[in-house]
Amino acid sequence: MRKIVIAIDGPAGAGKSSTAKLVARKLGYTHVDTGAMYRAITLKVLEEGIPVIATEKVSALAQRSEIRLESSHTSPRVFIDGRDVTHRIRSSDVTKAVSSVSSIQGVREVLVREQRKMAAKGGVVLEGRDIGTVVLPDAELKIFMVANVAERARRRKKELAVAGVDVDEKNLASEIEERDRRDSTRDTSPLKQARDAIVLDTSNLTLNEQVFFIVERANEIIKKKKS
Ligand code: DC
Repeated sequence: MRKIVIAIDGPAGAGKSSTAKLVARKLGYTHVDTGAMYRAITLKVLEEGIPVIATEKVSALAQRSEIRLESSHTSPRVFIDGRDVTHRIRSSDVTKAVSSVSSIQGVREVLVREQRKMAAKGGVVLEGRDIGTVVLPDAELKIFMVANVAERARRRKKELAVAGVDVDEKNLASEIEERDRRDSTRDTSPLKQARDAIVLDTSNLTLNEQVFFIVERANEIIKKKKS
């Protein structure tokens, strides 16, 4: 029996990555962080000094790049052209430029094609912004994760503190709001809830509760498919 496909979408900081990783682990599925793919292309664009407004050049770069995600449970890694960029794609330069790069149609075409290939055999948890709406509209389970901005800023501050970076929570909150605005108002594949997605508000949930909720829904679908 073909394993199912799970699409997890939602804004930055809603808890998609950590949740998707654990859901994949519990089900024995592969985790695909599509945001990491946009980040890897953005890193290469910055390194090559291509202005993000040069959309044709950026699209051509995406076409000639090879992105590979290694979905290990302990330390998932991201490679571009064979180079490990797992940590570098999280830098603030990349974070600032990624909204512009990910709004380029040519870039999205290349990455969406790759993402569909990764999902073709089933048994995957893809997380991003447009998985349930554009990349895999036929995914068996679609989750739209949300959380209020204050909570998302608090979580981000905690994450950065672990990495030894101290930032003002208010600044983080306005950065998050600005990224939400750009991701949801862009012309190409804006962040949008699929009509058949289940909304999961994680503001007052623990990571374990989020994971449990999704795994339960997935198991219900898997059971139905079997019977
Ligand atoms: O999830 P993240 O913060 O790592 O995503 C980085 C950026 O990539 C974010 O600004 C939105 C964009 N993105 C996208 O446009 N489509 C996706 N499927 C995933 C991410």
